[in-house]
Amino acid sequence: MTGPCQRDGRIGSPAGLGFGETRKPMPHRDHHAALVREIRAHDHRYYVLDDPLIDDRAYDALYAELRALEAAYPDLATPDSPTQRVGGAPRADLRTVEHAVPMLSLDNTYSSADLAEFGRRVRDRLPKGTEPTFSVEPKLDGASVEILYRDGRLIGGSTRGDGIRGEEILENLRTIRSLPLTIDFVGPITLRAEVVIFRSDLRAINAERTAAGEPPFANPRNAASGSLRMLDPRVVARRRLRAIVWAVVEGEALAATHSAALRRLHELGLPTTWPELRICHSLSEVDSAIADLADRRDGLPFDIDGCVVKVDRFSDQMSLGFTAKFPRWAIAYKYRAERAMTRVRDIVLQVGRTGTLTPVAELEPIALAGTTVARASLHNGDVIRELDVRVGDRVGIEKAGEIIPQVVLVDLAVRDGDPPPFVMPNRCPVCGTPVERRSGQVALRCPNAACPGVVKASVWHFARRFAMDIDHLGEVLITELVERGLVRDVADLYDLAPATIAGLSRMGSRSAENVVSAIASSRDRPFDRLLTGLGIDLVGPVAARQLAEAAGSLSSLLAWTPAEVEKRLSGVAGFGPKMIESVRAFLADPRERALLQKLVDRGVSRGLEATSEPAAEPLRGISFCVTGELSRTRETVHGDIVAAGGIVHDSVKKGTTFLVAGEKVGRSKLEAARGRGTKIIDEVELERLLRDGP
Ligand code: IVH
Repeated sequence: MTGPCQRDGRIGSPAGLGFGETRKPMPHRDHHAALVREIRAHDHRYYVLDDPLIDDRAYDALYAELRALEAAYPDLATPDSPTQRVGGAPRADLRTVEHAVPMLSLDNTYSSADLAEFGRRVRDRLPKGTEPTFSVEPKLDGASVEILYRDGRLIGGSTRGDGIRGEEILENLRTIRSLPLTIDFVGPITLRAEVVIFRSDLRAINAERTAAGEPPFANPRNAASGSLRMLDPRVVARRRLRAIVWAVVEGEALAATHSAALRRLHELGLPTTWPELRICHSLSEVDSAIADLADRRDGLPFDIDGCVVKVDRFSDQMSLGFTAKFPRWAIAYKYRAERAMTRVRDIVLQVGRTGTLTPVAELEPIALAGTTVARASLHNGDVIRELDVRVGDRVGIEKAGEIIPQVVLVDLAVRDGDPPPFVMPNRCPVCGTPVERRSGQVALRCPNAACPGVVKASVWHFARRFAMDIDHLGEVLITELVERGLVRDVADLYDLAPATIAGLSRMGSRSAENVVSAIASSRDRPFDRLLTGLGIDLVGPVAARQLAEAAGSLSSLLAWTPAEVEKRLSGVAGFGPKMIESVRAFLADPRERALLQKLVDRGVSRGLEATSEPAAEPLRGISFCVTGELSRTRETVHGDIVAAGGIVHDSVKKGTTFLVAGEKVGRSKLEAARGRGTKIIDEVELERLLRDGP
């Protein structure tokens, strides 16, 4: 390895020496400095340049080495060490701070005529003979923040808030690994940046949340802004946030133009919009830069909702100034989200494994942004009321964050008559039990743990690939098993005999035997997979692995007292009070205890020695693009790939390993794959890869 990653780098004199003292450099200090330099260089390559030199495992080894060194010599763990990104205890609340310069917003346009008008206004207001230069850069769809560096140290940060005052979030910003804790610059720099989550990271987070029974984030923006304001930096650190700088508001010493200032920051190791920025000398160049960015939009790893056109020279910006609301030197050109109109055939209620009732719009199938959409979640009664969506309505569908289809409007002008409004029921549509609302939540829940709707969803979750991974146990079979009373909880699966299943519809004796043997072999799944499959609230695959390690086996978990739950989990990274309370409540519930005992009696799970190692992820580091119609939803397939350690790309790019092609695949995707040497596989082959690896 060369350059910044050399391991034998030396620092100047060791810290802590008094005047006149001479001492040989201490080897562990040198070792520490070299490790810190190397880790920073890798963070920069990975998070800023998107061009890692080493794989995750090699990085983790460096990090572990640094931790071990700091454990042996605690005075080395200074606040700017990479190990100190995640600070101490959670805070009780966020402090409010005033921005150095108010954070205004931008005037918006959707048309190139408005853009021409903007250009004319700029020219008219600038002194005669001044020809403005413009910059065009992406408008990132995230949460805006202020970031302060003083003499090269990251010392402050706040959310936008009301534009004048925001909330102090330095500890959360410090967890963002793309943001250097120190830079080589003397003097004050105040920056504006967007905090975003890459689309692929959001998929992984959502797969994890779904597995933990939490609602997925509808889009990266909600996920980023919610995460930034969390009180526990340890949880923030797991949200894979990135910051991308789009303006310098203090730091005149950097450069004379906006673009040069961003380039300088980029060279100092900060993530900025510079790599995507274009400098334009005329409005027609601005138009082509906008069109060019629109073409590249899908290939960017983050969501953008348009671009921002700025007058590039700071001196021109100063003479143009601001209106009461906006800068006169910048304008946002927004892309319209792709939208499709279709009709609501029905509104049905889904009962989830936690009993949550989710209304879902069944739609006349419609093509939207590369997939066919036939269903869209309506989330809860409040959303339905706000939209006033009714059966038979013509509705507009958009993909939020290009992932989850959402109903965004109802075309009231073409409503047929006066269909009755949809009302959330008082009773569970499956078992008739009166529904409940947990305090502070909008969602309604069926509290009956024996409700066939809840049991079906629990069995489906238990059998999923990232949990107990039971082949041949599909939705139709689960429904029949539950409806006939053959399966009342997941432990009943292990009592099923081939003869019982062979009597069910579409089941011969061969397939019945396959089902029973798939269920039997799931007994050997590692303990953490069982814990994931049980669907304890807030406990997804990662937390399940930690819980499995803390408990060792199912029988010892069962023996934990409530005080022990607290004692054993409170030191575990990422286990906040809510998660601990959820595990405690789970273990205190007599029904859950009976279920765990039933599983122990049936010989399910072998204990800690079988805990999944991260290395067991069969698709670690392999990238996929999924296209066309598959037998399962795109989201489920993405979730399975991510849970197996794989990476999902939105489009076929250089380096995409596999294109998974379903039915009705567009020719351009196939051609892109062929041109880039990406292997084209079908769904059956994907299933095999998920099981056995490549
Ligand atoms: S420049 C004085 N550049 O858009 C305001 N803003 O509608 C100058 N945004 O609050 C804003 N990407 O959060 C600018 N490249 C970019 C941006 C950007 C995203 C957001 C920002 C701002 C909002 C304005």
